[in-house]
Amino acid sequence: MLRIAVLVSGGGSNLQAILDAIDSGKLDSVRVELVISSNREAYALKRAESRGIPTMVIDAHDWPGPRERDDKLLEVLNELNPDLIVLAGYMKILPESIVGRFPRKIINIHPSLIPQFCGEGFYGMRVHRAVLEAGETTSGATVHYVDEGVDTGEVLLQEQVPVLKGDTPESLAARVLETEHRILPEVINRLSREVK
Ligand code: GRF
Repeated sequence: MLRIAVLVSGGGSNLQAILDAIDSGKLDSVRVELVISSNREAYALKRAESRGIPTMVIDAHDWPGPRERDDKLLEVLNELNPDLIVLAGYMKILPESIVGRFPRKIINIHPSLIPQFCGEGFYGMRVHRAVLEAGETTSGATVHYVDEGVDTGEVLLQEQVPVLKGDTPESLAARVLETEHRILPEVINRLSREVK
């Protein structure tokens, strides 16, 4: 059984995709042990709660600064000692203290074809806006390991998504999100087979 912690900040549709894959039997050896949110308003928390999954809020506003917040996060993750940490729309950059403690045990989903449109400043709608401004005809989604850099870790799976004429950042984001929802559970499934 692969015990995972999922880190979220917002809507949590990727978390939902993981939970749905567990429910439908596609992720038969995965258990979500804890959902941690950097934002107490995140709808992702409701999704976890309605499934009876333990949740925790580690919101920067409750701590003197990001360092203290990250120390708390490290403490919680150390105690839980999950097999895998999944960043599913987690909007904070993990410090080296956490990344170094869990080498090849943290994965992230990014809404572009890494190494394009990623790194510092490329998050949320900014990614899709930049893709459209650059006149790209193809975008995509990438699941990768998290290392000390921003979006620089080894790519685990990547899938292309067409950019359509008349796309807005919102319409492109919605199409990319559908792909995210498919490839994130797929990678988790693959990793769960490896630990068996
Ligand atoms: C996704 O596009 C993800 O790639 C990005 O943030 C968005 C989160 O969506 N990092 P959700 O919270 O999973 O609905």
